[in-house]
Amino acid sequence: MQKDDNPFIVSGHIQPQYFCDRQVESERLTKLLLNGNNVVLKSDRRMGKTGLIQYCFDKPELSKRYYTFFVDILHTSCLQELVHELGRAVYDQTVPHGKKMTQRFLKAIKSLSGKMGFDANTGMPTFSLGLGDIEQPEYTLEEIFRYLQQADHPCIVAIDEFQQIGHYPEKNIEALLRGYIQKIDNCRFIFAGSEKHMLGRMFDSGNRPFYKSADSIGLEAIAREVYVKFICRMFAERGRTIDTALAEKVYDLFEGHTYYVQKTMNEVFSNMPRGERCTDETVQMSLQAILDGNDMFYRDTLSRMPLRQKSLLYAIATDRKASQITSAAFIKRHKLTSASSVQTAIKKLLEDDYIVEDAKQYRVSDRFFALWILRLLALGI
Ligand SMILES: Nc1ncnc2c1ncn2[C@@H]1O[C@H](COP(=O)(O)OP(=O)(O)OP(=O)(O)O)[C@@H](O)[C@H]1O
Ligand SMILES: [Mg+2]
Repeated sequence: MQKDDNPFIVSGHIQPQYFCDRQVESERLTKLLLNGNNVVLKSDRRMGKTGLIQYCFDKPELSKRYYTFFVDILHTSCLQELVHELGRAVYDQTVPHGKKMTQRFLKAIKSLSGKMGFDANTGMPTFSLGLGDIEQPEYTLEEIFRYLQQADHPCIVAIDEFQQIGHYPEKNIEALLRGYIQKIDNCRFIFAGSEKHMLGRMFDSGNRPFYKSADSIGLEAIAREVYVKFICRMFAERGRTIDTALAEKVYDLFEGHTYYVQKTMNEVFSNMPRGERCTDETVQMSLQAILDGNDMFYRDTLSRMPLRQKSLLYAIATDRKASQITSAAFIKRHKLTSASSVQTAIKKLLEDDYIVEDAKQYRVSDRFFALWILRLLALGI
């Protein structure tokens, strides 16, 4: 029987058959880890860092030899929260390795073991701790590292959105973590993040604790030809057709940015019965549906944005990629107030992640938001 599932995965774990390319990057990441290196993985948001890490963790070269741990610290804002997240991730991902390792964890993390809850069905301890239970975060952190050091397999710990530690109020976090990471000899680390400048400063500045402590991999868009072939094959295997030119058009609209291509293709696929050929109208209708779905959220965002930031956001969206935004020409063309007001506004827009800058070029970070603004301004998408 022919497959009929939507092959364009947009959330959660991606099975290898739905994972597009990343051959070079996954080989490089795996090789670096197997050879004892730590790795910094940088890319724009939603390019596929998390997907790549999980894809590599699933590969037998890593999964058979290592215990792998994955912790996302995007929402953490201090050491206590970091330790809570790390403790939980390490515990939850230890349990599947059996009773012996679980017992070892509980023994090692003495500062917490008395406070853990119990699963009524299995009788096993659960990591149902409140933040307040982490009374001495530095001490618990030491215990977690001690546990990893004693594990009966080597370990890989991926810390996603690692740049977040740079926002913590405590000043010594980098040095503290670096100290543990340097000492532990059976554990390799992946530091992933999307704030490229911040990560760059952490790992490339001579006066910072993490200076040159990891090899760097930058994740760019998947190559056009490879992604387009993947899209066409996914459709064909499920009794549907999309022409190369149309798949290229979607790829180009988002410069191959993974999430946006995936999401659009997911919507397009969901609008196509078996046996059908994808048309320009199907793509347009799907895009409009995605933008409609975000309507409330975008309106709300704009309603809370000061006028000067909003005007600059519109100006950048209109140019799609804007450069020299403080030049007289740019200010005049977009009817902005002054170079200094543009400077103040861009600082805030960058800080709040509405705009990203790359090689002195600015664009709206959320590419659907950019299209939604163009639609709002009746400029067509
Ligand atoms: N190689 C791939 N093939 C197919 N889909 C992918 C691939 N890589 C990522 N995706 C999809 O693209 C989207 C973004 O991927 P992911 O979450 O891994 O990016 P990220 O860089 O970690 O993003 P963020 O910065 O938001 O954490 C997800 O919907 C994911 O399912
Ligand atoms: Mg991620």
